Amino acid sequence: MTNPIYLALDVPQLDAAKALATKVKPHVGGVKLGLEFFYAHGHHGVHEIAHLGLPIFLDLKLHDIPNTVAGAMQAIHMLEPTIVTVHASGGRAMMEDAKAASANGTKIVAVTMLTSLDHRDLARTGINGNAHDQVMRLAELAEASGLDGIVCSGHEIKAVRRQWKDGFFVVPGLRPSGKSSGDQKRVVTPRQARDDGASVLVIGRPISRADDPAAAARAIEATL
Ligand code: C5P
Repeated sequence: MTNPIYLALDVPQLDAAKALATKVKPHVGGVKLGLEFFYAHGHHGVHEIAHLGLPIFLDLKLHDIPNTVAGAMQAIHMLEPTIVTVHASGGRAMMEDAKAASANGTKIVAVTMLTSLDHRDLARTGINGNAHDQVMRLAELAEASGLDGIVCSGHEIKAVRRQWKDGFFVVPGLRPSGKSSGDQKRVVTPRQARDDGASVLVIGRPISRADDPAAAARAIEATL
């Protein structure tokens, strides 16, 4: 089994990001580089991390007109990312063009609904109904648009897997059992998410803020 853990490298300094990735490399399947990292360090930063030999997930959350998103996708071909994110709310044509413009071997997954939004925020943007229904609707649209999968929370993975049997599902917001869940009330463990059908487990602070990140990653890996 390949290791499904992708470490979220939410570290602003390139040297610190490289040092952290080097430490945990034996215990993760890849690293996720997000907007802060990409805006700060660009292609150079991605190449520096790629030298470590780990698969790269570019969490760029693209959302623009189809032509622009397709152009952005082509501009990152040479970085050979294994996964890239776009927003499902960009619509079918945008997702189709994003997939068509992506490199062979890159999985394009859609962000459905940011977990920072609740049903009141949705209503303010003109979308009535609950968040779960909105996620399921956007998952269906992503599948119809030819994407590989979606990003979803540990609470949605089972339902989404039932609806989209061969989808590729990226699950963030996980907490190993016994660890502080901070302000999260309902936590899902990496093992639970894996059992429910997650393809990739995105884990950040439980590893990056641990006293010994390599040991923390190894301990999580051992639960899978
Ligand atoms: O909470 P943690 O540090 O493990 O988060 C890891 C990554 O997952 C971060 O890059 C964060 O932006 C992302 N995340 C997310 N949706 C959530 C929780 C975290 O995309 N609900």
